[in-house]
Amino acid sequence: MLLHTIAEVREQIKEWKKEGLTIGLVPTMGALHNGHKSLIDKSVAKCDRTVVSVFVNPIQFCPGEDLDKYPRTLDTDEKLCSDAGVDIVFAPSPNEMYGEGHILSNDFLTYVIPPFFYTDKLCGKSRVGHFDGVCTVVNKLFNIVQPDFAFFGKKDMQQLIILKKMVKDLNIPVEIIPCPIVREDSGLALSSRNKYLSENGKKEALVLSRILLNIKSCYNKGITDVKALSETSYSFLNENHSLEYLEFRDKDTLEEKSIADDDTIVFIALRVENVRLIDNIELKG
Ligand code: PAJ
Repeated sequence: MLLHTIAEVREQIKEWKKEGLTIGLVPTMGALHNGHKSLIDKSVAKCDRTVVSVFVNPIQFCPGEDLDKYPRTLDTDEKLCSDAGVDIVFAPSPNEMYGEGHILSNDFLTYVIPPFFYTDKLCGKSRVGHFDGVCTVVNKLFNIVQPDFAFFGKKDMQQLIILKKMVKDLNIPVEIIPCPIVREDSGLALSSRNKYLSENGKKEALVLSRILLNIKSCYNKGITDVKALSETSYSFLNENHSLEYLEFRDKDTLEEKSIADDDTIVFIALRVENVRLIDNIELKG
């Protein structure tokens, strides 16, 4: 069922709650691929009812980012969802979410602002305000759908860690279910933004997973010094890659590590053909 208004969703949720059914929410910005589908499948398997939101959220895009050209494919998204057994696809307009004639600034809109310690690093450093927009919209979706479970991918690990913190700090009655990164056979993590890459760009983009796998294999051989582990990456990079960051941080607090351990996640962001790509790997396991 494709719904565009908050009122229609609320009405349906009310019915389900009355029947005592559990509800899973999968928040997305659409252009759905197998990464999203893995979250949807988990929700459909675990919950009595599943809601997928499809909303390109304007307040999480920074000036100069790809808000206007972000892929919008609602028809195929809806088909993927109905084939997967989704009960509601919620695809609101910006007016529906933020009000007619809305002004998207924190002078006029109530924002949920995650702690600076979590947002001043990694993606938050170059995307100032991005996670304020993410937390605000996810909080709104939680209030609209009132899910028992919400499914997020480890592909966006900083987002996942920040949302877990938001749920804890604000006592939101939802359980966040982290889901593994889905990759192409080549190792490239699936992303809606891969669509911007040429065939050659996709090959160049393999550098992210190669660097991360190499670091993990060095760690497994006993190298724990972060500087030494980082240095193993440089030979993978060429003039087609513009590295934004390669950082070793704690899986819960995002504190920086100088000695890697099983609680460490390695985060990487780099540009290929001016497309910003991110990936990460957990050193445990
Ligand atoms: P979007 O980029 O559409 O991603 C929606 C969800 O799919 C996120 O939880 C993301 O981590 C997950 N995902 C994307 N690619 C994945 C992959 N290759 N493997 C596993 N999971 C993957 O993230 C957002 O939208 C937005 O910020 C949102 C949370 C919807 C708020 O607007």
